[in-house]
Amino acid sequence: MKTIQIDVLVVGAGGAGLRAAIEAKEQGVSVFLVGKEVLGCAHTGMAMGGLNASMVPPATPEFHAQITTEGGYFINNQKIVKAFTDEMPARVFDLERYGVMFDRKEDGNFYVWAGPKQKFPLNVCVGDYTGREMMQGLVDQCRKIGVVYKDECFVSKLLTKAKSVIGAVVLDLKTGEVFIVSATATILATGGAGRMYEVTTNAASNTGDGYALALNVGSELIDMEMVQFHPTGIAYPPSVRGVLVTEKVRAHGGILRNKYGERFMSKYFPKEMELAKRDEVSRSIYQEVKEGRGTEHGGVYLHVDHWKKEEILDKIPDVYEQHKNIGIDISKEPMEIYPSMHHMMGGIRMNEWGKTNVAGLFACGEVAGGVHGANRLGGNSIAEGQVFGRRSAISAVRYAQKHAHVSVLSSDVDCEAARISAFLVGKNGISPHILESKLKKLMWEYVGIYRNEKDLLKAKKGILLLVKESSHMKARSDANIRNRDLQDCLEVSNMLKTAYAVVLCALKRKESRGAHSRSDYPQTKKSWEKNIVTCQKKQKLILSYAGVVKSA
Ligand code: FUM
Repeated sequence: MKTIQIDVLVVGAGGAGLRAAIEAKEQGVSVFLVGKEVLGCAHTGMAMGGLNASMVPPATPEFHAQITTEGGYFINNQKIVKAFTDEMPARVFDLERYGVMFDRKEDGNFYVWAGPKQKFPLNVCVGDYTGREMMQGLVDQCRKIGVVYKDECFVSKLLTKAKSVIGAVVLDLKTGEVFIVSATATILATGGAGRMYEVTTNAASNTGDGYALALNVGSELIDMEMVQFHPTGIAYPPSVRGVLVTEKVRAHGGILRNKYGERFMSKYFPKEMELAKRDEVSRSIYQEVKEGRGTEHGGVYLHVDHWKKEEILDKIPDVYEQHKNIGIDISKEPMEIYPSMHHMMGGIRMNEWGKTNVAGLFACGEVAGGVHGANRLGGNSIAEGQVFGRRSAISAVRYAQKHAHVSVLSSDVDCEAARISAFLVGKNGISPHILESKLKKLMWEYVGIYRNEKDLLKAKKGILLLVKESSHMKARSDANIRNRDLQDCLEVSNMLKTAYAVVLCALKRKESRGAHSRSDYPQTKKSWEKNIVTCQKKQKLILSYAGVVKSA
């Protein structure tokens, strides 16, 4: 089998993975970057509103850290938060060096806007297409410095020897070829798992691969119950259901109304109104719809029709265009929105240098946990990916420089190649699409904005049944070239494992905190100010508690 030998393997080519690859390459080691999508098309490109950094006084890193922690309901790792907020301004300047043209005012200062909790504005942006511009800059920089990459490739398994990660088995989605990357250090930057929900803002590639890969090699995950629902996803028509409508809309005066025209946020959060935290706005919308004050499509209205058209075109051109494409002129009529699964706050347990509990394995970006606690502030995701992309690369490079390269055992690889080809053999199996759509429904219905023991147990039982069924999962064709069904089989396996971890943790946390709202345990309890850790032992997921890292 073809083997690529390398110092640092980066898995995932979104904002964090690209930043990691740039750093590792600039530190002078050999780097190999693999991503599932065509280079430049990862989910980060869909980020709209911007990224938080204390670029303009009176905002400071300390203020940024304070609101990130309050916003996260005090279970964020303080060492991670400090590293993040201290280093963010430098990472914004890096992005400018890579060619990203952030919006600036006529006086030359950054244009910054204020999301929830931002008494001092932190959000730097490029219109409402910040992610797209960032990806362009990062990809350009990778190309400029000669990062070696292979896109449209799926990492199906991490390889280990003596409990250290020593590389990965990779399936080339274009050709069906399976090859080995023998790497001294591996960084996971595979993004989130939005696709396990029926309604999500996430790209098709966010299928929880990194959580499953990490669990399989003994890595710990943290706070997997913390799933963020963005308050404003498009509610209608079905073809665009869930698509993000940026928080920038509400931050610039967008107004939420129910079907009676009532500005309902005044009832729930009279002080913060539309700029309450994401978990709070999502619950308010949920309540309005549940009590019959929603639109006929099960959403509520978001108005910018009181803005001047020039302001709409200036501040939120993509939102304008998105809606024009579905026949809605937002300068004249409201948008129809409903919360949409948006972000995994939990993830691979890392320290402030992106190190995991497994030697040779590092993590950054959405797949890693600890930054956001129980609720992420808008603008903190594509931001922290830049800090921990760089930091995890520094750690991986140091590790690669100190450790000898270890050869991969062919028996390990044969086993994985056999697992992949088993999805291609035999015709009477179950389609991955059937399992995926059942999983999406379970997660949306029973593991959503509000949870309770009865629903979570239904989800648990349902997922276990799907896991059983997945042993008969088959692709419809045995073609090697661009076999989407084969990719789906691999992804569904990862989503099932990730979803199961989410449900177990959601059952375990018997309180409400941030995005985790238990209708049967509505209080937030000081005694629950702790993290839930998940690891896999003998194919079983085991949960335990850990104290929050409180001091930076
Ligand atoms: O609303 C938004 O633009 C999303 C930003 C984020 O999740 O950070």
